[in-house]
Amino acid sequence: MREDRAVRMRKHKHTEERLALCADLLRDPADAANGVWQGKWRAEFAARMGSEPRRLELEIGCGKGGFILGLATRNPDTAYVAVEVCREALLLAVEKCKAADLKNVIFLCMDAQQLAAVFAKGEVEKIYLNFSDPWPKFRHAKRRLTAPAFLALYQKLLAAGGAVRQKTDNAPLFAYSLESFRENNWRLEDVTDDLHNSPQALDNIMTEYEKTWSEKGFTIHALTAFPPEV
Ligand SMILES: C[S@@+](CC[C@H](N)C(=O)[O-])C[C@H]1O[C@@H](n2cnc3c(N)ncnc32)[C@H](O)[C@@H]1O
Repeated sequence: MREDRAVRMRKHKHTEERLALCADLLRDPADAANGVWQGKWRAEFAARMGSEPRRLELEIGCGKGGFILGLATRNPDTAYVAVEVCREALLLAVEKCKAADLKNVIFLCMDAQQLAAVFAKGEVEKIYLNFSDPWPKFRHAKRRLTAPAFLALYQKLLAAGGAVRQKTDNAPLFAYSLESFRENNWRLEDVTDDLHNSPQALDNIMTEYEKTWSEKGFTIHALTAFPPEV
């Protein structure tokens, strides 16, 4: 496996002041972790968007925000919550969406482990995991966003018919994810080891990592996974 390539982001100047200028796109992660927003996201977005959103979707680990900007621009009647634990990356994502005057995206700076308190059961229609950190060491496997505990969490958050969409350039993480979904009885669709040379490339929105690693010659793996019906 390639070394874990998590990049330490440089500190930006005036991060907090710049985030304050985008306050309308941010919600307090402490409120979120305390359940303040559970079951209330549609109403919150309706107030921002001027009408009830058609769907509510979630991106975990949005990084610098290129994907959520593209997706939210393409689907103005869908609401998106984007979660990112790194404040420096989040700043760039929030500023992009602010500059585009998007009303259908809200950001939370928090660890995905706390998401059970953020949404009501079945509140989310789709979850995007784009180029999640691979955590290659066995002792860190629980931190992978497709570890069994995360799949159990996603199953609670997803509405009937909802799905997880994963993209990665990291073959070992992809193999691990396929096994994790299968072992937990998720149904897989649209599995590919070369997204950019598949029919799915047509409506693909590239992330920052996707651009970087595909330009370096890595193929992109992708899947869509549906939780077992209970
Ligand atoms: C490799 S980067 C990919 C960023 C972006 N999705 C892209 O494709 O360009 C992974 C991102 O996920 C974030 N992340 C990792 N674990 C997370 C967690 N448990 N909760 C929230 N964000 C997380 C990291 O801070 C990082 O910004």
